[in-house]
Amino acid sequence: MYDVLSVREDFPVLKEVIYLDNAATTQTPVQAVYAMQDYFFKYAANHGRGAHRLARETTNHYEDARESVASFFNIDAEKTIFTKNATESINIVSRGFPWKKGDHVIVTLVEHHSNLLPWMRLRDIGVEVTVVDVDVAGVVNPEEIRNAIKDNTRLIAVNHVSNVFGSVQDIETISSIARQAGVKILVDGSQSAGNMSIDMKSVDPDFFVCPGHKGLLGPQGTGVLYIKEPDEIESLFLGGGMVSSVTRESFKMEPSPAKFEAGTPNIPGVIGLGRSVEYVAELGVDSIQKHEFELAREAASRLEDIAGVEVYGPKKRAGVVPFNVTGMNAHDVAMILDQTKGICVRSGYHCAMPGVDNLGVNGTVRASFGLYNTEDELESLVKTVSDITALV
Ligand code: ALA
Repeated sequence: MYDVLSVREDFPVLKEVIYLDNAATTQTPVQAVYAMQDYFFKYAANHGRGAHRLARETTNHYEDARESVASFFNIDAEKTIFTKNATESINIVSRGFPWKKGDHVIVTLVEHHSNLLPWMRLRDIGVEVTVVDVDVAGVVNPEEIRNAIKDNTRLIAVNHVSNVFGSVQDIETISSIARQAGVKILVDGSQSAGNMSIDMKSVDPDFFVCPGHKGLLGPQGTGVLYIKEPDEIESLFLGGGMVSSVTRESFKMEPSPAKFEAGTPNIPGVIGLGRSVEYVAELGVDSIQKHEFELAREAASRLEDIAGVEVYGPKKRAGVVPFNVTGMNAHDVAMILDQTKGICVRSGYHCAMPGVDNLGVNGTVRASFGLYNTEDELESLVKTVSDITALV
């Protein structure tokens, strides 16, 4: 039985606010904060760069974190790369992929800017980019993607869950379409990793990216990149920690993951992420998914019942609930929610302008539910939104 009240004990800030901005960043449990504190107080040193005891201990903890993340996703540790966020992960792929002029990439209208701009910029080097439409609820129809594939298509980049709508894309089908066509697929798991189960063996993406600081509950400044064939992708950053030999004339790189992790990484952050991922695994992703999805679906249906409130996204949504109060600016609604009841939500374009534009509005209020939110908090959101409608 999922015990939300005991989960809340691990997130002290929840005593102060109603935190419904989990799609932007999620709170980190004390267990992961203590793991980072241990690093600083007991063994801080650099990773992979020293023979002394602290360096060895740091390296062991950092690599244990990699094992935890790899085992969480059921992927190979040597193909699991730590980055600073999902944006960096996507840029590593978009810059390191062996493009030829005339290649073709498919993305969707409902991507976060981080999964749109790195592909759009490829137009500068002669790569064609198609942005496929989505329906009004932000759902990608896999057939639209199939129809967009051409002889020169090399890669499809698609979100698993939309950060604007909470729509869950059918990545199993999209991935199988990609495989049949011999096209690579990148799945952006920013809104799904840690929030819902992902069968990595059946989806079998060529690239999977996610931040550490959302559903995985890690600190900001951490991200994950999985590359199925790491030798096919060039390193974006060159420097220390990723070469096995260097002469005046040339250098030889280490294999993945070191090849992609030049420079001193965010060691405390990764160690915190390793612990937070274990925390998520201990609670069970299926239980977290059930909890978040049920709250979001109930919130959406209750908000929909309020006259003067428009809710967006599909009925079968993940934890994200975008809405507007007719006649009010989304930022004003968000500000009133915070100032009157301490309810923290995001408002605006959510770094996904084309998706929001598609709705014909200039922003939405977005409540996004996390593993620690409660029915009482949902009630408070619904009641306060209802009160706000009376101000119009
Ligand atoms: N991608 C994050 C969001 O949707 C920041 O809010």
